[in-house]
Amino acid sequence: MHVDASRPIAPADQDAIRKRNDEPSPPASHDPNPKPRVPLLALRSITRTYRLPGSEPVPVLRGVELHVGAGEFLALMGPSGSGKTTLLQIIGCLDRPDGGSYHFSGDEVSALSDDALSRIRGARIGFVFQFFNLIPQMGVIDNVALPLLYLGISSSERRRRAIHALERVGLGHRLGHRPTQLSGGEQQRCAIARALVAEPPLLVGDEPTGNLDSKTGAQIMELLHELHRGGLTIVLVTHDAEVGSQAQRLVKMRDGRIDGTAE
Ligand SMILES: Nc1ncnc2c1ncn2[C@@H]1O[C@H](COP(=O)(O)OP(=O)(O)OP(=O)(O)O)[C@@H](O)[C@H]1O
Ligand SMILES: [Mg+2]
Repeated sequence: MHVDASRPIAPADQDAIRKRNDEPSPPASHDPNPKPRVPLLALRSITRTYRLPGSEPVPVLRGVELHVGAGEFLALMGPSGSGKTTLLQIIGCLDRPDGGSYHFSGDEVSALSDDALSRIRGARIGFVFQFFNLIPQMGVIDNVALPLLYLGISSSERRRRAIHALERVGLGHRLGHRPTQLSGGEQQRCAIARALVAEPPLLVGDEPTGNLDSKTGAQIMELLHELHRGGLTIVLVTHDAEVGSQAQRLVKMRDGRIDGTAE
């Protein structure tokens, strides 16, 4: 399937996404000038250069154009060093671009302060990585509840929501465990529960199946598909062609650009 990563999602595609998500169609609009839908993520001409003391600057992102609609499941693939993680960190508001614009839900975020970026991360973006980054000294409920601490939510409510998130990822029978007492797949489920406990609209993943055997990786993908059907927007970096082909849209990066977009 040929994909133009730079275009906004066409209304026909929006319908397809809605159907896939089993969402009801919106009522017909009688507005003669309907506003185009705002994509959840809109990146334009994004550049990022790493500058290390004593060495030449390394231009890593060289004009990335990417729109992601609400409810999309997008996979990002490309050779090692092509800038996937760098781009995902910008999408996830962990890093800022040097140039270009990044609108998240219609708001320009590329020049926000550290505090403002961390508020967006805490409430609106969930992260999963190749390594699960769970805290071994804490039980799974406390691990999952941790992001809610920074949102000022009471202890009993944090616990209630963490248990709900763990049940959602199929770990309702492991509530008394520590991360070291879980299998790799269960640890990634726990990390996904932690990513979703604040109910963000966006989940970003950098190789979330990269440290799992193929069967366990497929189960994690099945979970991500289920969450996507529930309305979650997902942007996933992967080296695995099988994982990439399962996404709704596959975008390829090469030399710091989205493949297929103009120089
Ligand atoms: N913090 C940094 N400081 C300096 N250079 C960096 C930094 N992070 C990444 N780079 C360089 O930027 C380039 C792109 O790195 P990035 O991690 O985005 O690639 P990637 O596509 O995710 O690769 P991989 O598939 O191997 O994970 C690489 O050449 C890397 O060496
Ligand atoms: Mg990477």
